[in-house]
Amino acid sequence: MKIIRQIDPLRDALKELRQQKSSLGLVPTMGALHAGHMRLVETARAQCDAVIVSIFVNPTQFGEGEDLDSYPRQEAADAALLEAAGVDLIWAPTVDQVYPHGFATNISVSGVSTGLCGGSRPGHFDGVATVVAKLFNQVRPDAAFFGEKDYQQLAVIRRMARDLDFTHDIIGVPTVRDADGVALSSRNAYLTPEQRGQAVALPNTMRDAADAIVKGDDIAAILAEAEGKLLASGFHKVDYFELRNAETLENMTVFEKPARLLAAAHIGSTRLIDNIAVA
Ligand code: PAJ
Repeated sequence: MKIIRQIDPLRDALKELRQQKSSLGLVPTMGALHAGHMRLVETARAQCDAVIVSIFVNPTQFGEGEDLDSYPRQEAADAALLEAAGVDLIWAPTVDQVYPHGFATNISVSGVSTGLCGGSRPGHFDGVATVVAKLFNQVRPDAAFFGEKDYQQLAVIRRMARDLDFTHDIIGVPTVRDADGVALSSRNAYLTPEQRGQAVALPNTMRDAADAIVKGDDIAAILAEAEGKLLASGFHKVDYFELRNAETLENMTVFEKPARLLAAAHIGSTRLIDNIAVA
């Protein structure tokens, strides 16, 4: 398994790989890999002949005061996991390879990036869409794999791919959770043991709210009650707790399938997100 950091050697390696393998799958990541990322890799392995994983902590998707500098970086451990999983190539570019001097282009996807994380993290999805478009052009995969854990991100990428004529498949992979239901996230590493215990309130509250919505209870009251429950369980701020159309991400006030509950809330200095289908 090669680890490549510069664009020219990447092109050479991809050319060689394409001669040997009939389809390439791309799994974009920011590293600090856990079983959630590895599920994407396994899914890519099952669907494609060769798998490329990118590891790049993308500065443009982090806002002022966010955790860009402290974001966990553990490339050697990541590479060992990926090697054992049969990955063919790691694309781990330096920042100047992705954003060379004078870089001046921004991809901004409207609509699906409005509100939710787009509301609480201004500019975040521009950074995501721009870097993912670049990764698509650099690798030119046959399929790219993204987690439903970042549900709005997946919607933004699907929209961007349709709008910019990326014709490869965009595959969404269901969220991988710990045994207690907490979604795996690189940011869970920031939680103290006490906070990790409290974090279970997020999936539990979402499940209760989803059940109440399906039963036909008043949606506004359910969402307000859910926020209150999170605040009473150790979260100190709720960025959003919303019911949306699962495909368009439009706000939903009367329950209709397909529907998705999406939430983001803070414990200490850690911001956790989660989402579930309401069905
Ligand atoms: P990162 O947070 O490293 O996540 C990489 C991929 O892993 C994303 O598609 C994310 O949705 C998926 N993932 C994370 N936790 C998961 C879980 N518990 N279950 C299933 N999938 C999970 O998302 C990013 O990086 C970046 O924004 C990126 C797309 C790489 C662009 O910089």
